[in-house]
Amino acid sequence: PEEKEAVKDEIKKLLKEQDAVLVAHYYVDQELQELAEETGGYVSDSLDMAKFGNEHPAKTLIVAGVRFMGETAKILTPEKRVLMPTLEAECSLDLSCPIEDFAPFCDAHPDHTVVVYANTSADVKARADYVVTSGIALDLVSWLGKQGKKVLWAPDKHLGNYIQKVSGVEMLRWQGACIVHDEFKTRSLGELIEKHPDAGVLVHPESPEEIIAMADVVGSTTQIINAAREMPNKEFIVATDKGIFYKMQQEAPGKVFIPAPTHGDGATCVSCAHCPWMAMNGLHNLLEVLKNGNNEIFVDEEVRVKALRSTQRMLDFAT
Ligand code: 13P
Ligand code: SF4
Repeated sequence: PEEKEAVKDEIKKLLKEQDAVLVAHYYVDQELQELAEETGGYVSDSLDMAKFGNEHPAKTLIVAGVRFMGETAKILTPEKRVLMPTLEAECSLDLSCPIEDFAPFCDAHPDHTVVVYANTSADVKARADYVVTSGIALDLVSWLGKQGKKVLWAPDKHLGNYIQKVSGVEMLRWQGACIVHDEFKTRSLGELIEKHPDAGVLVHPESPEEIIAMADVVGSTTQIINAAREMPNKEFIVATDKGIFYKMQQEAPGKVFIPAPTHGDGATCVSCAHCPWMAMNGLHNLLEVLKNGNNEIFVDEEVRVKALRSTQRMLDFAT
């Protein structure tokens, strides 16, 4: 514990010296979330991370999350230095949608408006008309549908399916999935709900259709944290990454949060859902990056300018 405190103190000192601010996703380790909060940084969902980085005056953004979050920050603010504790933190959705396959798919459907999830590479964002996060995906696609547009959606099949069902918009959908949310088990969740009939069920829309069907609230990480605070229930069953429990507990003290099961053989959480790439972020690689300035995010300028158009539309729609 003493060594940990020394590492944290050094990180705080370097953040100040370098005019750097730490922006963290809810899924990273609690100690990184605490550090972001203690140092004037920010912890949030992927949409608000992008907004915060875009508006904050610091010269350097340290993004603790997965690579697309660092790239989104660089796309929006190229004048800033964007560093990440690790550049190895991928996302299965991003990996499922390489530009070499995605571009021909778009080319084959020129009459469709291309909407991509933020969990994609800069190249894919550059090919898109709109970028969205889970916080605004349903609203934005519904808005396009009202204008008579047909939508080409990528890459999350579950989120795409959910949006299509609720909005009724005509959509062509890529078939990627989040390896973390894909693991929730329908039967075990049903059993858990039976055991806790008064619990509110909060679900991230990257989860499979049958899991979403059991939800009281479907939303982005921020939206489900808000629901936990605002709903009168004393207990909640939560289907998303376990990193979220730190903030949920903080925002809704006294309430009980039960992780949705990722094992089919029982209603208890044997191994909680946790993104292996988010877990790569830690105090030590954060300190390293501040000391050495390595792990900087670069985006090819031609790609960045194109990706900025669709990413800026996301921010404009969200405000
Ligand atoms: P949010 O935008 O809800 O934070 O989702 C990002 C993500 O990667 C969830 O798996
Ligand atoms: Fe990607 Fe899923 Fe990890 Fe989110 S939890 S970063 S969607 S792999």
